[in-house]
Amino acid sequence: MRTRLPTLFCMVMMILLFQTTTPVGAATQADSQATAQATDRSYVGADTCIECHEDYYDSYMKNRHGIAADPRTPEAQMGCESCHGPGSEHVDADGEGGIRSLNADSADGAAINNAACLQCHAKGGQALWHGSEHDGRNLSCTSCHSTHNNYANNLAYESQEETCRQCHKSIRAELLRQSHHPIREGKMNCSDCHNAHGTLADKLVDAQSANTKCFECHADLRGPYLWEHPPVVEDCLSCHVPHGSSRNALLNAKTPYLCQRCHSNAAHPSQLGARSNAEAGQSVYRVLNNRTFYRACLNCHVAIHGSNHPSGKSLAR
Ligand code: HEC
Ligand code: HEC
Ligand code: HEC
Ligand code: HEC
Ligand code: HEC
Ligand code: HEC
Ligand code: HEC
Ligand code: HEC
Ligand code: HEC
Ligand code: HEC
Repeated sequence: MRTRLPTLFCMVMMILLFQTTTPVGAATQADSQATAQATDRSYVGADTCIECHEDYYDSYMKNRHGIAADPRTPEAQMGCESCHGPGSEHVDADGEGGIRSLNADSADGAAINNAACLQCHAKGGQALWHGSEHDGRNLSCTSCHSTHNNYANNLAYESQEETCRQCHKSIRAELLRQSHHPIREGKMNCSDCHNAHGTLADKLVDAQSANTKCFECHADLRGPYLWEHPPVVEDCLSCHVPHGSSRNALLNAKTPYLCQRCHSNAAHPSQLGARSNAEAGQSVYRVLNNRTFYRACLNCHVAIHGSNHPSGKSLAR
């Protein structure tokens, strides 16, 4: 019996660990700071808060956090104080400080703000938050979210684009260009391609790679083709930009320059200038290299993403 006690202890600990919503290891310094900050404070219950903050109560009850029937929500747990922490000190001081404001610019800092949310949201879409680009730059969850409004996903602004625009102004400018993914038309969102909470791929792209992401919607270009164009297989972004371009079809340069980043601009196999040296040396053919001719590469090389035609080696059909 005695020998089994430690095993029993371990099992109980395991069960306890599995039951907590925060994964092991996520108990950061911020958690202990938050706990220390809260030790002198006790819970007073939402009824007390409502006496002075009725409007904040109304706004929170309209979103998912206010659904009491769902045992995982703040409303089913400590109410306002699930997020803001125990409120006794604040109430004793008639509302003068003594509580976590959770505002992104509050003196508490991002780590304490985020611990309040991560106690329930450290999994699923938020699992990669720690170490992500946004975490690394000390963003708070509340840089993008609010709990006291009615916007989709509790965002702090009405749309994603508007939320992101607070910091990423240049992306906004890109979306206004002539060729763009239809984000400003409301047909797509930043989150169709990004997970703002962290991803395995670079630049918060929510897929294995940029190409895998593009294929989710442009599956027809996935191939495999009989005749492949290597840069297409390697990286769509060798020719395209993701957000917006002042050139046609989200291209990052105009033809022929786009092509000539990789293909020689000195000659073309089918050009007139490719005659014998003697002939080319003294005639008009000399100037007929592809600086003056054959510039509309795509007129002939129509299958630029790859060809399945038996004689499509030159991507011309
Ligand atoms: C006696 C009235 C009163 C009660 C009760 C009360 N508050 Fe406040 N609270 C205030 C006042 C006054 C302010 C400061 C002015 C403002 O921002 O509205 C304030 C500010 C706040 C802030 C912003 C703090 C900051 O630093 O910006 C939060 C968050 C807050 N209250 C939450 C709560 C919660 C949660 C409860 C219940 C535990 C609660 N309040 C109970 C009066 C009260
Ligand atoms: C799900 C977490 C959550 C719950 C539950 C919650 N709040 Fe908040 N509250 C926030 C966040 C996040 C902010 C800061 C961002 C914002 O302004 O919306 C905030 C801001 C506030 C502020 C203003 C702070 C400021 O400085 O402007 C007050 C007051 C407040 N909450 C009161 C309450 C009261 C009262 C309740 C309960 C009826 C409550 N909150 C429930 C997350 C929560
Ligand atoms: C006590 C647990 C708890 C806390 C603390 C908490 N949430 Fe939630 N949150 C939930 C639950 C439960 C849902 C509903 C999830 C579902 O239905 O799958 C939810 C939903 C959400 C959603 C989706 C809303 C929607 O309309 O779909 C967002 C965004 C969110 N929470 C952000 C936050 C942020 C930001 C904080 C910190 C300020 C926070 N939560 C704190 C439990 C919590
Ligand atoms: C840079 C902006 C940004 C930050 C910072 C951010 N979020 Fe979000 N969050 C979003 C956007 C945008 C969505 C909507 C995503 C969608 O529609 O798929 C979202 C959706 C959510 C959802 C609901 C959908 C889901 O993925 O489950 C939850 C919960 C959530 N965020 C929690 C958090 C928490 C917790 C933090 C802090 C650790 C946080 N967010 C920080 C932008 C942000
Ligand atoms: C509060 C400011 C802020 C908001 C709001 C914000 N971001 Fe960021 N974001 C940053 C910072 C700071 C970085 C770090 C890289 C940098 O300096 O640009 C970053 C990085 C990124 C990156 C990776 C860039 C890279 O070079 O690795 C992407 C993608 C991104 N954000 C998308 C979004 C999306 C999508 C939203 C809206 C849902 C959003 N951001 C909202 C501040 C913000
Ligand atoms: C069609 C998919 C797609 C959509 C939609 C999208 N992005 Fe991106 N975004 C990308 C890809 C792919 C990259 C990586 C570019 C690279 O590696 O050069 C990127 C890069 C970024 C960067 C890093 C800086 C840069 O330009 O390289 C930021 C910031 C960013 N996106 C923000 C946003 C915001 C904000 C939105 C919504 C308004 C958005 N993105 C919508 C695919 C997308
Ligand atoms: C969530 C779906 C989605 C994803 C992911 C996506 N696209 Fe698109 N793409 C669209 C839609 C929708 C259009 C607009 C089609 C239209 O207007 O007919 C479009 C249009 C385009 C266009 C043509 C634009 C024009 O002005 O003619 C190009 C080029 C393009 N996408 C490239 C990409 C690349 C490269 C990626 C990966 C970085 C990507 N797309 C990822 C949905 C997506
Ligand atoms: C070698 C350069 C190059 C690469 C790499 C490339 N594209 Fe393109 N793409 C083009 C050109 C050039 C056009 C314009 C074609 C036209 O105007 O007829 C285009 C047009 C498009 C269009 C809009 C018209 C159409 O054909 O449907 C989409 C969508 C597109 N590309 C997606 C992609 C995706 C997804 C990838 C990666 C798998 C990719 N492209 C890789 C050069 C490239
Ligand atoms: C990022 C570099 C890059 C860009 C940009 C690029 N290509 Fe290519 N292209 C290649 C590579 C690499 C090959 C394979 C060459 C080989 O197999 O010898 C290739 C092959 C080709 C071929 C087939 C050659 C053969 O094997 O017969 C054609 C045609 C072609 N490219 C046309 C174009 C056109 C037109 C453009 C502009 C719209 C373009 N390429 C843009 C890198 C590029
Ligand atoms: C008038 C039609 C036409 C135009 C315009 C044209 N090409 Fe071609 N291209 C061809 C044909 C046809 C072939 C195949 C020649 C052969 O098999 O000998 C070819 C072959 C190629 C090859 C393969 C060369 C090799 O060694 O097999 C490349 C690369 C290429 N073109 C790139 C370009 C680029 C870049 C442009 C624009 C600057 C361009 N082409 C414009 C018709 C054209």
